Amino acid sequence: MSITIAVAGKGGTGKTAISALLAALLAKESPPVLAVDGDPATNLHQALGLPLDDETNTIGGIRELMEEKITQAEFALGTDKQAWLDAKIFEGLVESAGLDFLAMGRSESQGCYCAVNHMLRHILDKLAGNYQYVVIDNEAGMEHISRQTTRDVDVLLIISDPTIRSITAAVRTRKLIDDLRTNVGQVHLVINRLAGNITPQMSELIAGTGLNLLVTIPEDPNMAPLETGGRPLTELPPDSPLRRGVVDIATKTGLLAEKLRT
Ligand SMILES: Nc1ncnc2c1ncn2[C@@H]1O[C@H](COP(=O)(O)OP(=O)(O)O)[C@@H](O)[C@H]1O
Ligand SMILES: [Mg+2]
Repeated sequence: MSITIAVAGKGGTGKTAISALLAALLAKESPPVLAVDGDPATNLHQALGLPLDDETNTIGGIRELMEEKITQAEFALGTDKQAWLDAKIFEGLVESAGLDFLAMGRSESQGCYCAVNHMLRHILDKLAGNYQYVVIDNEAGMEHISRQTTRDVDVLLIISDPTIRSITAAVRTRKLIDDLRTNVGQVHLVINRLAGNITPQMSELIAGTGLNLLVTIPEDPNMAPLETGGRPLTELPPDSPLRRGVVDIATKTGLLAEKLRT
């Protein structure tokens, strides 16, 4: 059984950075890992230093290719289009050592974002079993994990910056999950880009939310130079605060231990 980790939270809080470093860590320690970019503004591949072709490596791009083929009547009669799509998506996985990458991408035609979402869920059901871990970098909405069926998220990390607004948004995400009745194992709050310590006021706010504060991660001075230079975050030094924070997350959730694997 694979373990699914979903990373959620408000935009700009560090979801992609944390997803990338966590996926890379798990790929090193316990491959194979599937990293999934669930944000239509695809950018997880950059953080991982992987190439991406919008047309052949994203679900949205592949879906458009299919629509074009349908319009131009290029499919032979009786072609199983779902099987064709599945095959194209498998082919479109970006492969690297210990880690495969899949991006949802966006779909330009008819605002059919929900259709792409549906396809992502379908494909995850098919693919997940091939991996030890699936790490999903979510966009701010939670559509990918809102199945209301049985697909499970083993560990949900809600990332927040140390502002009241962001923490309040984290609580909304938590409520959304409850309302959607998604089957989620552990739910944790991660405060990222913390300058100094958690203030008593923040601590009180967090306590009132009922969220478990798992880890705090300080502002990482090594991030800006990498981002400016377009370098992958996997080049962060081992003792970098963000990387250490991610090791902390993996340790405290038991992701690196066998205990989740029951
Ligand atoms: N701990 C940190 N220290 C410094 N910069 C950070 C840290 N975490 C994230 N960032 C920066 O914040 C910005 C937003 O991060 P990102 O992971 O793209 O957020 P999200 O995916 O939630 O929108 C990026 O420029 C990233 O480099
Ligand atoms: Mg992001």
